[in-house]
Amino acid sequence: MPITRADLEALDRQDPLAPMRALFDLPAGVVYLDGNSLGPLPRATPGRIAEVTEREWGRGLIRSWNDAGWIDLPARIGDKIARLIGAAPGTVMVADSTSVNLFKLIAVALGERPDRRVILSEKRNFPTDLYIAEGLATLLSQGHRLRLVEAEDIPGAIGDDVALVMLTHVNFATGAMHDMAAVSAAAHDSGALVLWDLAHSAGAVPVDLAGAGADFAVGCGYKFLNGGPGAPAFLHVAPAHLDRARFPITGWLGHAAPFAFEPGYRPAAGIARATAGTPPILSLAALEVGIDIALRAPMDQVRAKSLLQGRLFADLVAQECGEATFRLVSPRDDERRGSQVCLAHAEAYPIMQALIARGVIGDFRAPDILRFGLTPLYLGYADLWDAATALAEVMRREEWRQAGFRTRRAVT
Ligand SMILES: Cc1ncc(COP(=O)(O)O)c(C=O)c1O
Repeated sequence: MPITRADLEALDRQDPLAPMRALFDLPAGVVYLDGNSLGPLPRATPGRIAEVTEREWGRGLIRSWNDAGWIDLPARIGDKIARLIGAAPGTVMVADSTSVNLFKLIAVALGERPDRRVILSEKRNFPTDLYIAEGLATLLSQGHRLRLVEAEDIPGAIGDDVALVMLTHVNFATGAMHDMAAVSAAAHDSGALVLWDLAHSAGAVPVDLAGAGADFAVGCGYKFLNGGPGAPAFLHVAPAHLDRARFPITGWLGHAAPFAFEPGYRPAAGIARATAGTPPILSLAALEVGIDIALRAPMDQVRAKSLLQGRLFADLVAQECGEATFRLVSPRDDERRGSQVCLAHAEAYPIMQALIARGVIGDFRAPDILRFGLTPLYLGYADLWDAATALAEVMRREEWRQAGFRTRRAVT
């Protein structure tokens, strides 16, 4: 039986998450399938930023570091993120970008395994993870090297020379998801530590860092957490490592007594040592709004809707565009898929541009992937119909052949 728009409208009527869409300021006429890259604007964010700007900064001035609790904001938001990723309070800090946090935590991990020289990762990990590991190995000049294998070969590649297994939980380009508990256990069995990049997981799929025994994690604030463009990132250090973690960026706010202004560095107790410099308060204020929304949505409902949307979207594209038009890159198996559907096509770039011109916004990942993020907080089921039928029109009318759609812009 073909899927109809009426079927999808019926699902929207029964959707317990449907009311959450009103919390976001989404433009009319747009189907937004790129919340895995940049989450949309929560309606409460401009007001909160105005309040922090005008009242806390404007009136409170420097007093607001204490009076408005600015100084505690990174750890306070960290504790909220901890609830989304199954981590204990006091083990997550908001700071810097994901890239910088990777640098910090890879260095911490290598410091804990001084006799081992290999960082193991997968070939198709997000490039910044690999670049940072490579750069740090060069900087350390101690013979550290990156070993890259296919995702399925990771468990077998954790030899006794591996200091750290560093993986992205949900792959950015395919949506394939690792079994966090199994990989973490395999790493530990071989004496290695494990670091998870949760960029495409936090707020999108169930994560249980503590249950999986993960050592370290990082993630982005601007994707499924809806913290705004360039929102600060987060990092997690498991309790067992907290008080011995030696961070490579020893800034004053990670000092045991920042306002003692001592000449020598002494790390703060616990996760506070993960901080380097002054936190970006306006960005943190925006991020907190997004996270408060994510905390309101029961993760079992988010996951169930995301999985159903993923299956429906893949089926709708096949139904409306023809089975052979696109190759489904994301796993069909629910257990192994994150919250995105990725389709391969030789002309993926101009096809995505033509689709965006029709108001259906996804993105392109080189060399040939159309990426569609599924964000149950504001994506309806009928939206999937509108997206799939727009894609079918782009293909049927060959709209992607227009010259303007071929010009590659800086951000794809
Ligand atoms: C898996 C993954 N890690 C890291 C990043 C980017 O990190 P940063 O916050 O340093 O830009 C992305 C961005 O898309 C990503 O997909």
